[in-house]
This record gives sequence, C-alpha cells and structure tokens, in this order.
Amino acid sequence: PAPIVLDSDPGIDDAVALQYLLGTGLWDLKAYTTVGGNVPAEQTFRNGRALARAFGIDGDVSVHRGAGRPLTRLPYSAAGEFHGASGLGAETLPDSTAPEQAESSAQALLRLSRAYEGELTVCATGPLTNVALALTEDPGFARRVKKLVFMGGAADVPGNITPVAEFNAWADPDAVDLVVSSGIAYTMVGLDATHGWRFTTDDLETLRAAGDGMALTARLMDFYLGAYRETGGSPLHDPLAVGVCADESFVTAAEGTVVVECGSELTRGKTVFIPYDADYPRAYYQESPLVAARTERRGRVALGTGPRNFTDD
Ligand code: BDR
Ligand code: CA
Repeated sequence: PAPIVLDSDPGIDDAVALQYLLGTGLWDLKAYTTVGGNVPAEQTFRNGRALARAFGIDGDVSVHRGAGRPLTRLPYSAAGEFHGASGLGAETLPDSTAPEQAESSAQALLRLSRAYEGELTVCATGPLTNVALALTEDPGFARRVKKLVFMGGAADVPGNITPVAEFNAWADPDAVDLVVSSGIAYTMVGLDATHGWRFTTDDLETLRAAGDGMALTARLMDFYLGAYRETGGSPLHDPLAVGVCADESFVTAAEGTVVVECGSELTRGKTVFIPYDADYPRAYYQESPLVAARTERRGRVALGTGPRNFTDD
C-alpha cells in the first residue's frame, strides 16, 4: 500500500471518505490531519479522533489538530444543515482513547512529506488551510509530495455555499490560491464531478442491508440525505476525491490553470478554470498580471463524471 495522508473536516462525507479509504486496501494511512471547516477545528479534531475509534484505527493512525481559522479571514461555521451541529449528524460517538497528538496537522504533513519524499499522496477534503500552512513554512513541500487531490471548487457549474462558490474554496480562498500557485502536482475534484455521483435512497437500503459494519455509515448517510432529498440524492463529494487518488477514471479531467477569487466578497472562492490548450481565455485575460502569474502553474481539474462507476465501487 502507498503512503497517504487524509486531510479533512469531518463532516459526514468526510467520515465516509475515511472509511472508503481504509476499505480499499490500497493505502497506508500515515496520518489523519483535521482542519476547521464544516464545524470549527476543535470539533473536527474531536470528530476525527472519534471516527478513528469507530473505524478501528484508534491509536494506530495519528489524528492531528488543524488550523483554528482560515489563513487571513475570520473563522466560520456554516454547514449545520448538511452535517448537523456536531458535524456528524445526530451521532454521539464515544471519544478516542488514544493520547492526543501535540503535533499540528501542518507539522504532520511536513514531517511525512520528508519521510516519504516523492511517494506521499495527500487527499484534502476540507478547506486547504493546513496544506497552505505547510507550504508557507516550507515551500519544498510542493515538490516532495507526489500528488495532492483536493475536493473543492466549481469550474463550470454553480456553487453550493454562494451562487458561484463551492464551500471548501469559499471557506479559505487564500489557501486555494497559495496551493494552486505553489507548483504542487494537484487534481481538483470540484462540484463539476461530485454532483454526478449521488447517493440515493436505494443506496441507503443497500447500506442498511450490509450489516453492522455499515450501520454507522447508514445513519450518517440517512442524515446527509435529509438535506438533499429534493435534489435526487446527496453528492459523494469527499469519497470521490479519495477514489481519484487511486484512479482518475472516476472523473474526466483536463489540464489547465485554476485561479480563485480572493478579492471580491461577492464572488469569494469562485474558481475559474483556464484550459491549457484553449487560446481564447488567455486572449481575454492577457492584460491581467494575476492570471499571467498563475498560468505558469498547471494542474488537473475534474470536469465531469468518468467512465468508471464510483457508486458501485
Ligand atoms: C464540501 O463541503 C463540505 O460540506 C463537504 O464535506 C465537502 O467537502 C462540498 O462542497
Ligand atoms: Ca469535507
């Protein structure tokens, strides 16, 4: 199994992403680094530790406390409707029995990037604050990490927290900007792809029938589905990012540059994707020093669902 860190703001779909990652058998999870997002950082840390216990890795995989606030903005908490007040629906999970880690999420990311230089995959399913802090402390992080796959952004589709912005990108747009400009090899898995993989009431029945090992997941997904019942199912945002770490054919992706709006409060966190091959957007943007500086850096962006079926996986 290949070394990976999951950086996450649990969060219901974050919890399912963790369980999925462990279940694939493809990964050696070196750390679970939490970050504030769906709920404040102290709560995501607590949830992360409780999930480690619930999924049988308590004490074996270290769980780390993340940044208490975005890089430059005020803390927020915005996802109660989708994830519940605690972040994990209506659950009250038993606390972890492992000693608390003193090392922060950003420090753990840095340490592991050195220990597994050129091999480490980072999967980020919350705001990118921890990854940005690691890069700020040591820009060499970008070259040591094999690949970063992050759930966030919306290229050609509307947002989900504002009409134009996806939640993780909106929560810490400065972190996204820093990360996509850093030279790190990244794949952005945003709403363009995740809205194509929806968990439905039929899937819930399948989970319920799967027995005790899936009982917690079924309760979490039942709660999550509640926020989406009118829309044909709940998008499996964060699990899809985990899937893409192993196999990009879960999505269709293109190479190009991501530029994120950090200035305007109206369009804060809006991600603009400039495809590498197309001349026309560059022609429109050629007067912009901001865009010119960023088109030096390219990554991959998921633009839709791929040929491989994710929900059966
Ligand atoms: C993202 O926001 C969070 O609520 C989810 O966990 C996911 O990471 C979707 O916009
Ligand atoms: Ca998340």
